[in-house]
Order: sequence, then structure tokens, then C-alpha cells
Amino acid sequence: MRILSGMRPTGYLHLGHLCLLENWLELQAEHECFFFVADWHALTTEYEDPSRIKEYSFAMVAEWLAIGLDPECSVIFVQSQVPAHAELHLIFSMFTPLSWLERVPTYKDQVRKLRALGKDITTYGFLGYPLLQAADILLYLAEGVPVGEDQLPHLELCREIARRFNYLYAPVFPEPQGLLARVKLVPGIDGQKMSKSYGNVIPLAASPEEIAELVNRMVTDPARIHKHDPGHPEVCTVFQYHRIYQPERAQEIEAACRRGEIGCVACKRELIAVMNRRLEPIRERRAALLAKPHLLLEVLEAGREKAAAVAATTLARVREALNL
Ligand code: TRP
Ligand code: SF4
Repeated sequence: MRILSGMRPTGYLHLGHLCLLENWLELQAEHECFFFVADWHALTTEYEDPSRIKEYSFAMVAEWLAIGLDPECSVIFVQSQVPAHAELHLIFSMFTPLSWLERVPTYKDQVRKLRALGKDITTYGFLGYPLLQAADILLYLAEGVPVGEDQLPHLELCREIARRFNYLYAPVFPEPQGLLARVKLVPGIDGQKMSKSYGNVIPLAASPEEIAELVNRMVTDPARIHKHDPGHPEVCTVFQYHRIYQPERAQEIEAACRRGEIGCVACKRELIAVMNRRLEPIRERRAALLAKPHLLLEVLEAGREKAAAVAATTLARVREALNL
């Protein structure tokens, strides 16, 4: 199966992304994968100040490689370096009814959410966001797209676009499926979904001291006041992290917490150690890669070349189907 996915470079990665990326790693081992930095998609919300997109794109690639994406088996590239995405998006825009875009559930939500943050995204480009995403996917004839649940409406639209193209012109595109990660997403330190806009993230690059500080700020069972009070791990964010970072210990911690045999301070201290052990090698590889920008540039150039070759083949079929 051919797999494709992308991420928007609007900041450094955090542990919420790590869950998704672990899914990418599994897919990389078994399938032909394309992973790209969606820098044009980042522009839809950052158009007023695009000055950091390049820095974040670069860091994102270093972070991907640090986690274990392997440019020897996966094609890793930056969207804006393969202009074919724009051409396919343009062609799709000709036969996509406006109403299809207006009714994508994330559209109005996002406009409202960003307006509250002082950003106006009632632009032509943002309305077309899911269409550009469809072009990203279909350009490579991808069949599987690992994404978070919030992206499923975009994949539904992508399938509708593929069907409409195939029906109007010629059967060029497969109908790609969304692949949801099996892993449960880690919550932010306040227990909500981890997101930069909520200010609750743990950056992938956090130092050991920062990890300690953030874990210490995590919400625990609010009903627990004294160390020997019986706790309720099911409502505790720290416990959810234990389940992810040391599943083999989770049952013991759960029992000890319920019996009031472990205090929250000790419980957090243990988590800090476990997380640091896990994140340390990633942190080191990330820093080493960022210190060698020429290496990252080489990876991206090789990726661009491979991606552009596949894209050119698809576009040739598209032009032929439209008799252009
Ligand atoms: N919209 C995706 C997100 O916000 C990023 C993205 C852009 C993407 N193009 C894509 C993901 C194509 C998968 C396939 O996460
Ligand atoms: Fe949460 Fe651990 Fe405290 Fe129990 S002991 S409430 S699991 S931090």
C-alpha cells in the first residue's frame, strides 16, 4: 500500500505529535511511504507573519529523523518544493462545488476558533485547505493516510474529489482511506487535548529540567489531599502518562494509588525519570541533526527528487485525461 501524510510546520513538535509519528514508524516498516512538511498549509493561518515557517520546517525534519523516520526507505520532502501540488489543486478547484468546501465541518469551527485568537482566516486559501490536502494525497495516488481523527472529514472530501475526477474524465485516482493510530493520544498537562493554542504542551525538545517542571504542573486526582488518601488514577493525567510511557508498571501504580500507598510527588518523580530516559536519545539526535543543516538539505533534496518524479507521472495522466 502507498502511504502519505504531512504535518504543518507552525511550531516545534510536542509529545502529542509523537503518538502520531509512532504510527508513521510502523507504517514505514511495511509500506512505501511519503512524508512531507505542509508549509503551504501553514501559510493558511500564518500568512500575516510567515517568517518562522522555514525554521519550523527544518526543525520538523530533524525531529522526524530523530524519532526514526528513515530517508532510505521513506520519501521525505517539503510541499513547496514540489510545485505539482499547486497545479493539481488548481485543476481540482475547477470542478469542486463551493458548497462541498463550505460544509467541511472543520471549516467554520476553525474560522471561529482562530477569530477568537485574533486571526482572520476567511480567505480563499483557507476555504481551499482541504482541497489542497486532497491534491497532496492524490498526486501520489496514496491509498492510506495516517492522520488524527480531526482529519477524517478532509479525507472524506478527498475521496469525493477522486470520485468526481474519475467520473468526469478518466479513472486516475484511488480512494484513499484514513488510518487512525491505535495509540491513545497523550493529553496536555492540564488533561485537555495537547495543543499549542491551549498552552499545555510538552515539547519534544524539552530539557530534563523542563520535563520535570511540566510533569510537576500536571493535574492529578483533585480529591487527593493527603499522601495516604485513596486516589482515582482514572481521572489523573499523570497516570495516563504512566500507561503510555511504562505500560508494564501501570497496573502496580494504579493499585498503589487506589490504596493510598504512593504519593503524587513520588509518582511524578518516577514518571519524570521514565520520560527523560525515553526522550533523551531523541533530544540528542535532534540537536546533532540541527547542527548539520547540510545533511538535512541533502535528505530534502533527495526526497524532492523522488516526490517530483511520482508527481510528474500523475500530472501527465491528469493532463491527458483533461485533454490539455
Ligand atoms: N491537514 C493536516 C493536519 O493539519 C496536514 C496535512 C496537509 C496533511 N496535507 C496533508 C495530512 C495530506 C495528511 C495528508 O494535520
Ligand atoms: Fe495520579 Fe500518581 Fe497521584 Fe495516583 S499517585 S493521583 S496516579 S499522580
